[in-house]
Amino acid sequence: MSYSRIPSQELFPTKGPVPPGQLIGRSEAIAALQSQLAAGSHQILAGPRRTGKTSICDAVIARLKKGGDYVVAVDLFEVGSLSNLAELIARGAIANRPGVKKVLPVLLRSARWVGRAAQVSATLKGEFGTEIEFAFAPSRSQKTPMQQLDYALRLLERLATADGHQLVLYLDEFQEVETPLLRFGDPDLLTKSMRSILQRSPHVTCLFAGSVEHMMKGLFAAEKRAFYQFGGFFSLDPIDETAWKAGLRKAYQRDKTTITDTALDHIIATSEGAPRATMLLAQQAHVVAVEKGIFSIDLPEVYQGIEYAMATERQPHEADVARIRALRTNALRVAQRVARGEPPYGSGIDSKQVTRALDSMRNAGIVVQERAREWRLVDPLLGRYLSAFPAV
Ligand SMILES: Nc1ncnc2c1ncn2[C@@H]1O[C@H](COP(=O)(O)OP(=O)(O)OP(=O)(O)O)[C@@H](O)[C@H]1O
Ligand SMILES: [Mg+2]
Repeated sequence: MSYSRIPSQELFPTKGPVPPGQLIGRSEAIAALQSQLAAGSHQILAGPRRTGKTSICDAVIARLKKGGDYVVAVDLFEVGSLSNLAELIARGAIANRPGVKKVLPVLLRSARWVGRAAQVSATLKGEFGTEIEFAFAPSRSQKTPMQQLDYALRLLERLATADGHQLVLYLDEFQEVETPLLRFGDPDLLTKSMRSILQRSPHVTCLFAGSVEHMMKGLFAAEKRAFYQFGGFFSLDPIDETAWKAGLRKAYQRDKTTITDTALDHIIATSEGAPRATMLLAQQAHVVAVEKGIFSIDLPEVYQGIEYAMATERQPHEADVARIRALRTNALRVAQRVARGEPPYGSGIDSKQVTRALDSMRNAGIVVQERAREWRLVDPLLGRYLSAFPAV
């Protein structure tokens, strides 16, 4: 029987968080974040896009859960409104009780509860008041969205105490509370209310993650904001080269495939160790090997893999170019200079325009400042695209 190859996307996932067992490096970061949370210290994880924040948080949450903690995880990208947020927090909280988790689908599906579902609902109402019903029947609630959120947040401590567990509340993409459409209402009202409840909840520890760094800093590090000094900023170091090499080799081995040192070095040099870019190049080199029907990867496969990767990323890169153009006058020219490793200042572009362009691109998560006067593209593959892009 012929051997069927493992799909490249399965070996090197690039479409979202990586399952804990497939994470490369990061074991120290995971252990450190876990112990901070276990010690009751709220944590804020803010970093550039696609660097593995969600993957790490997911791994930490899974471990805490395994260790017996209650966890409530909500990704704000998936939440449409304040009452929806309240509902998901309340539902996530009660789902920690095994008996409740089983009947939740029934509670959510039908308007009239019978049997076990009715019992569970009655018990919860007895313990936490009839308001609890909005966790599974939100349309029946008489409360305002803000009251619902207050109730949901208070429920965390009540549940944790009642059941004798620590509870970790993990909110991903937290900067969404402050995006221009304000779908969660006034961010100051929301954060004030959250802070006042959470600081009176000794059994509840929070993990906030977000990919728009300057917004996360605005929320948690600005003196006038409600969450000022609420928790510690957890910083993520780059994944080191040894870890990358061992991890990528191991992933190739799952498909009986080997890779030469030079080929691995070339992947990491091209991706600059940026997590998603590295995985994408490794994945595309594997696509080439599968196409050729070979089980060893060398430089030619990596070269072709890079071409494939650039082709698959073409649309997002074009969208990024449009976004950069729309940011500021001359922003694209500045981005191109950064991508080519040329100093952005002193190139004939008005220096005020350069500063504004760099600031807007930093706020948009496109560039980061390494040191004074040193900038780089967050996504090295976008950098590659821009370098080859016709001069603007
Ligand atoms: N430790 C890791 N090992 C292997 N791949 C990783 C690792 N961390 C991140 N990646 C790669 O980066 C991609 C994005 O990971 P993840 O979604 O966790 O990042 P993120 O920082 O939460 O991104 P976003 O800013 O889009 O929310 C993954 O699909 C994977 O390709
Ligand atoms: Mg994420």
